[in-house]
Amino acid sequence: MKQYIGIDLGGTGIKGAVVREDGEILARQTCPTRPQRGPAAVAEDMAAMIRTLGRGREVAGVGLGCPGTVDDRAGTVVYACNIGWVNYDVRRVLEDTGFTVRLVNDANAAALAEAAVGAAKGARSAVVVTLGTGIGGGVVLDGHLLTGFTGAASELGHMCIVADGESCACGRRGCWETYASATALIRRTEAAMAAHPDSALHRIARAKGGVDGRTAFAGQEAGDPAATRVVAEYIRYLGVGIANLVNIFFPEVIALGGGIANQGETLLRPLRAQVQSQEYGSAYTKKHPRIVTCTLGSDAGVIGAALFAAEKPE
Ligand code: BGC
Repeated sequence: MKQYIGIDLGGTGIKGAVVREDGEILARQTCPTRPQRGPAAVAEDMAAMIRTLGRGREVAGVGLGCPGTVDDRAGTVVYACNIGWVNYDVRRVLEDTGFTVRLVNDANAAALAEAAVGAAKGARSAVVVTLGTGIGGGVVLDGHLLTGFTGAASELGHMCIVADGESCACGRRGCWETYASATALIRRTEAAMAAHPDSALHRIARAKGGVDGRTAFAGQEAGDPAATRVVAEYIRYLGVGIANLVNIFFPEVIALGGGIANQGETLLRPLRAQVQSQEYGSAYTKKHPRIVTCTLGSDAGVIGAALFAAEKPE
């Protein structure tokens, strides 16, 4: 069976893996991204990782999953607002390793992986939404990843859900990711703490060494009213975007990934109710799609990037 290297470039860390064409991971590596060093230093680290992973192996190609707009034909990261890359010729640096390199958006990679060997295995159509620093998305229709022109499709996190709403890192206002990413949830949790000095959120955050995407859910579980409101509001915004995606794509499966998705049914049960209340159509459409949690966890990015390396170029 052929082997590929998948690299998942994130805002915090870079993950790399040798992946067999059936999705099995054979070896892995990680290192911190430290994006403030600029793209050249980050790309050198990725090249070093590829060399280490590829040493002594028959590797058929490399796939790089990046946040933002990639141009797989030109080999550039066109625009990645969360790591500050603009028109960076990353393929030139990575192909110095001797391997052929393909570029794919990070969430498109996750969607490819979840559809092939994860939560949406067996489904002909699926939408994967990753809830992290931003919101990423990937759409698989009739078994194929929707790439759009040169691979830039499915910026689901940048669909506007509130006209003239909060400012997004992309420069627009009201993007879904400013309301429903992990970053947004943390911001709302901190705002609730500032407004409610007596909230249990303070105790919970102190015990965990700071606020993260779990803090509000833990507060809700402890019966804290401010935390319960933060979670309800978060799920409402998440639901608006998911209902839009259901109305546009009507996929068999919608799978949620990223740390927040680890809340499982605590998140999914109220979310399904939200989505159903907003979907277009009849009782039939309201029964579908299945909204589930991704099953590949943080491996989805490397597996999907590797599987993308095996796809035919556009
Ligand atoms: C970017 C997407 C990316 C997502 C997750 C968003 O801000 O626009 O391209 O997939 O973050 O990293």
